[in-house]
This record gives sequence, C-alpha cells and structure tokens, in this order.
Amino acid sequence: SLQGTVAEPKASSVAEPLLLNAVRGEDVERPPVWLMRQAGRNWFTSYAHLTNTDHAILLDEIFIPFTSKSYQIICEKHPSFRERSENVDLVVEISLQPWKVFRPDGVILFSDILTPLSGMNIPFDIVKGKGPVIFNPLRTADDVDQVREFVPEESVPYVGEALTILRKEVENKAAVLGFVGAPFTLASYVVEGGSSKHFTKIKRLAFSQPKVLHALLQKFATSMAKYIQYQADSGAQTVQIFDSWATELSPVDFEEFSLPYLKQIVDTVKQSHPNLPLILYASGSGGLLERLALTGVDVVSLDWSVDMAEGRKRLGPDVAVQGNVDPGVLFGSKEFITNRINDVVKKAGKGKHILNLGHGIVVGTPEENVAHFFEVAKGIRY
Ligand code: CP3
Repeated sequence: SLQGTVAEPKASSVAEPLLLNAVRGEDVERPPVWLMRQAGRNWFTSYAHLTNTDHAILLDEIFIPFTSKSYQIICEKHPSFRERSENVDLVVEISLQPWKVFRPDGVILFSDILTPLSGMNIPFDIVKGKGPVIFNPLRTADDVDQVREFVPEESVPYVGEALTILRKEVENKAAVLGFVGAPFTLASYVVEGGSSKHFTKIKRLAFSQPKVLHALLQKFATSMAKYIQYQADSGAQTVQIFDSWATELSPVDFEEFSLPYLKQIVDTVKQSHPNLPLILYASGSGGLLERLALTGVDVVSLDWSVDMAEGRKRLGPDVAVQGNVDPGVLFGSKEFITNRINDVVKKAGKGKHILNLGHGIVVGTPEENVAHFFEVAKGIRY
C-alpha cells in the first residue's frame, strides 16, 4: 500500500488566495475583487411604498443581471428560494455561476442570513413578491424562550457540505466566503416579521423591554459564533458578518444592542480560529465606522456613504477595507466605471483593500458592465 509513503503537499507550499494575502497586509500586485448578488436593502428602502403586486413585478426583475440566464433557469425549475439554498447540488451550482463567468477572487456561498432560523425554531420563508417572512414574529419573553440555540451540523449540514465542495472546486484560485447575519439584524427580521421600513416593532421592544431583546440577541450571538466556526471548519476561508440594519440604531443604541454582540462573536471565533479573517458590513455605516472597527474584525466593508480616503483614515492602518463603489456606477459608461475603479483603488492605497461594490449588484445592471468591472479590476497593478 502507498499509504503513508506519498506526502500530502504541505499547506504552506500551496499559494494562498490573493484575497487572504491582501487582507493580511502582504505584498500583493493588485487588490482582489468579488461581487455579491443580494441587494435587499436598496430594493426595499426604495420600493417599500409599493403594493404587493408592484413588488411581484419588481422582484421578477431583481436578479436578472448577475449571471442572469443561468440563475433564472434554476429559479424556474426550483421556484422555492429555500429549496435553492438548502439543497447541496443547487447551492454549489448557483455559488459557482459567477466564478465560471467572471473568475472573481472570492466565491460567496449561495445562502441567506435567515437560513439558520428554522434550526432555531423560527419558521420562515423567502417569498417571491414579498421577501423574507417570519411566520410567528417574536415579541415577548415567552417567544424568546422558545428560540433554540443553533447546532449547525444538525440543522444545516448542506451548508457544510456545499462549502467543502466549493473549496475543492475553486482550489486556492479564489477564496471561499461564508457569511452570517449579525444578532441585531437577525433580531430585526424575527421581531418585525420580515423586512421593515421604520423598525418600530424592534425599537418598541428595545426601548420598552430591553431585557427581552438582550436575551434574543444573546442567543443569536452564541449561535452565529458557532455557525462561523462551522463554516470555517467546512471550508470557508473568510466569513462576512452582515449587520445590514445596525445603522437604523443611533450610535448610543448601537453600543447597547449591536456592538457587544458583534464583539462577542469576534472574540469567540478568534479564540478557536485566530487566522480566519472576519469581514463586517453595515448599510449606511458612514456614521458608525470607528465603532465598527471596535468589534475587532479584520475587514470593514464600506457602502458609498463615505469617501474611501476618509473611511480608510478613520478606520486606521490595521483594518482592511472592502467595497465603497456605488452599485449604480455599473449603469455608467465603461470609461466612467474605469475611472471610479481607479479612484477607489487610489484612495484605498496599496494593500489591505478588497475591490467590491458598496452592496450587491442591482436590478437591470448590464452584464457587460459587470464583465468590464472585473476586467479592469484584474488589470490593475500597484
Ligand atoms: O452573491 C450571492 O449569491 C449572495 C448570496 C446572499 C443572499 N442573501 C441570497 C439571496 C447573501 C450574502 C444574502 C445576505 C442577506 N440576506 C442580507 C445581508 C446583505 C444585505 O442585503 O444587506 C439580508 C439583509 C438578507 C435578507 C434577504 N434575503 C432579503 C431582504 C431578501 C429579499 C429582498 C431582495 O432583495 O430580493 C432576500 C432574498 C435573497 N437572498 C435573494 C438572494 C439572491 C433574492 C431572492 C431570490 O433570488 O429568489
């Protein structure tokens, strides 16, 4: 038998993905680049006033642009979002679509921040024409008591399996990204019952029964730390934490209802996985940047509410930066797109920069402009 005689290549002899090298501040020739599909925030805040019929029409158009046809074909065959995101083969196939077409430096798992909820005894769906729906929104101490702590290997084995396959498929030519929702953002969905415009229900809970909300946030913090560890153990090389709605909180309330739980997640994960880079994103975070850095994450993903040069300065030299390009830029001419890429690269400076949009690609973005974005990005040399 050959067992034991053929040495496995040592991990250190295999080139690490550019994205990881960039985050660690190593000498890289260009910034790594990747994009994501999800664009819930913009869509919902801009169209929340419309009726359900309008929503349905808009939702039909939403994910056409990014690797459009192949994703649409899968959606027609498998109209349920939960099926698409909870079946290993479909998750792998959809995750690899952008990789096959654009060869980005990061490949994000196809999933949703709400995916863990059913395993926590919070039934939900993502409904075409409506977005996320929580069937029994949580409002009381009793409701929160019913929430189970998450055991990823039991509840979402397909996530681990998909990440392991993705890691093999992509080799080390790109980094495989996992992701989780942050406690406050998850709480906002389960308390509001879905997407929200004014966040009145969660704010009523926060400001009239803070202990109940804290109990819920604590359950999410413990569960999401475990979920990140599980994703890393399954093959994710970096994990992005989405606190999409954190900026609905004023800075003092962010310090009470979000920051401590983010810190707890980061501390827990850093103890078990000291070399796993963590990325943090919040929409509209210009007013909270310094506080986002206090969580201890390695990368802060900026939206376009702040200038990259100022954001970089405010975050300090230890934190890497991602994003910042307005997704709307992809509606401009090729020359305009090129200029905006060059601008953000110059302002971010050499190293510790992941080129990306400030949020996901939006409705109707011309696919050729997405291709142009990647082409220019990959041609950059510091
Ligand atoms: O590029 C990718 O494949 C990204 C995968 C991804 C999805 N959701 C798939 C998805 C990611 C990273 C998410 C995260 C997510 N989900 C966030 C955080 C990012 C952000 O937008 O700030 C949030 C807030 C959600 C919750 C969510 N999921 C909403 C609000 C919606 C519906 C509204 C909308 O924009 O469509 C979803 C559904 C969803 N999740 C879709 C996708 C591709 C669209 C529905 C579909 O494809 O059937």
